[in-house]
Amino acid sequence: MTKKRYTVTSALPYANGPLHIGHIAGAYLPADIYVRYRKSKQDDVLFVCGSDEHGAAITLRAKKEGLSPQEIVDTYHQLNKQSFADFGINFDIYYRTSDPLHHQTAKEFFEVLHEKGVFTETVSQQFFDEEHKQFLADRYIVGTCPKCGNDNAYGDQCEKCGSALSPNELINPKSTLSGNEPVMKETKHWYLPMQEHEDWLRDWIENGVFNGKQRHNPKHWRSQVIGQCKSWIDGGLRERAMTRDLDWGVKVPIEGADGKVLYVWLDAPIGYISATKQWALDNNKNWQDYWQNDAELIHFIGKDNIVFHAIIFPIILKAHGDFVLPTNVPANEFLNLEGQKLSTSRNWAIWLHDYLKDFEGQQDVLRYALCSTAPESKDTDFAWADFQTRNNSELVGIFGNFINRVVVLTNKYWDGHIPAKGNLTSYDEEVLAELSNCADKVGQLIENYKLREALSGVINLARLGNKYLADTEPWKLKKTDEKRTQTILNIALQIAAHLSVFSEPFLPFTAHKLSDMLNIEQGRWDKVKELQSGHKINGANLLFTKIEDEVIDQQLSKLKA
Ligand code: 2FM
Ligand code: ZN
Repeated sequence: MTKKRYTVTSALPYANGPLHIGHIAGAYLPADIYVRYRKSKQDDVLFVCGSDEHGAAITLRAKKEGLSPQEIVDTYHQLNKQSFADFGINFDIYYRTSDPLHHQTAKEFFEVLHEKGVFTETVSQQFFDEEHKQFLADRYIVGTCPKCGNDNAYGDQCEKCGSALSPNELINPKSTLSGNEPVMKETKHWYLPMQEHEDWLRDWIENGVFNGKQRHNPKHWRSQVIGQCKSWIDGGLRERAMTRDLDWGVKVPIEGADGKVLYVWLDAPIGYISATKQWALDNNKNWQDYWQNDAELIHFIGKDNIVFHAIIFPIILKAHGDFVLPTNVPANEFLNLEGQKLSTSRNWAIWLHDYLKDFEGQQDVLRYALCSTAPESKDTDFAWADFQTRNNSELVGIFGNFINRVVVLTNKYWDGHIPAKGNLTSYDEEVLAELSNCADKVGQLIENYKLREALSGVINLARLGNKYLADTEPWKLKKTDEKRTQTILNIALQIAAHLSVFSEPFLPFTAHKLSDMLNIEQGRWDKVKELQSGHKINGANLLFTKIEDEVIDQQLSKLKA
């Protein structure tokens, strides 16, 4: 039997600004946890991501700052790539869509679809800035919101009341380029008639069936993902333009399409494929293995990208042919910050590169806090006070405390040598049984994308270790019952060794520190090795440190400034 392959993607972030904790909690940390788990099981898994370097938001920012779009994306591609790496998000490749291989791949996609007659061509009237001689992307038009009266609503959305808009609904529309009122002008675009795909999409989304084959169990899809897709389909699928008038992006590769580029739907997700091609070239692999046959494709995204990955991209993949459809699209809801929506423009955010500077070496604390409150089924809130409590009571108080006791006692009593196990009590047996169940229990939760619960499972194992030590009090037995003391510590050390494996997907920096302390190699999820008696461990080294109130107050003032 050939081994199953997993292709895991995280939404390509726009390279027009830094990353904040909302991005991380939505699409990157969950994917990284899932991938680390699969790698720990020795599964064949490829994790791709990269910068989305196209789109009107980037040209707009470049114009505002008097820079070229290339300068903008070069800056943020480097910054974001570095922040991800520093935070331990372990992509196999962090690609960028300005790469020529991507342009070629996306163009080929368009050409195949065009030749197959998948698109319709339609001429319509769109807003045009006469001074700048440019059609205006929705984001380039501002005006008064017809719903709430906000004077600064964008052509696609009013950020004040949250309504989705189209530019011709705006009252007093103005071009953001010249400030003039735009005129209407004819332009031709290529559209994807999504309504033609309704039947198979329904069967695939509602029943998991595609081409007569059961591809996935829809029970494993999150209800909000299925819900959003169904409401889109029920609301009636329509034609959607796949091209835009813009001078920055992948050029539409046919005659008569000067000044037109592929819209994000035919650009960014194809970046996942281009990234795979580049990775395959660099690593002497075959990219098709990760996109065809029985490969499992899993898209980690935020909820704003659900329709894009569960409806539009699948239509494109199917229309092209020779590609698998996603097995799952485990989208997260949104993370708020101190009770308010994260906002780049209002600077209401915790920026990842800032966190990494302010909390040097404490990546895992943020990973822990974000995973514990991950918005898996509803919007959740990140609060600094909660971050502090989780660190001080759970990481320091439970995990760190357990490991420290075990390592200190082993060094103190036996000079760091693991003592042998003697006769087991029924309590010992119970604890060992729970320990051996943990791999499957936590593993199943991760495979079902219940990462919060899985992380609780890991912390519960440390809790169990603490309780076991508190109940058996080996320090009281050392003088009177050396054998019993040895058995207890042996068992506690086995718990510690399991923790070094099970914590790795969530807290990779900590897990490696712990393996070093135990003087073992980083273990495999499905084959945690028993620590042998006589093996020598290293001295104790604190895994976590208490975070004081001042540190939290500083962060709160920084946020509110
Ligand atoms: O919404 C976004 O952030 C876009 N850059 C697209 C991300 S999804 C994609 F990569 F397919
Ligand atoms: Zn409004």
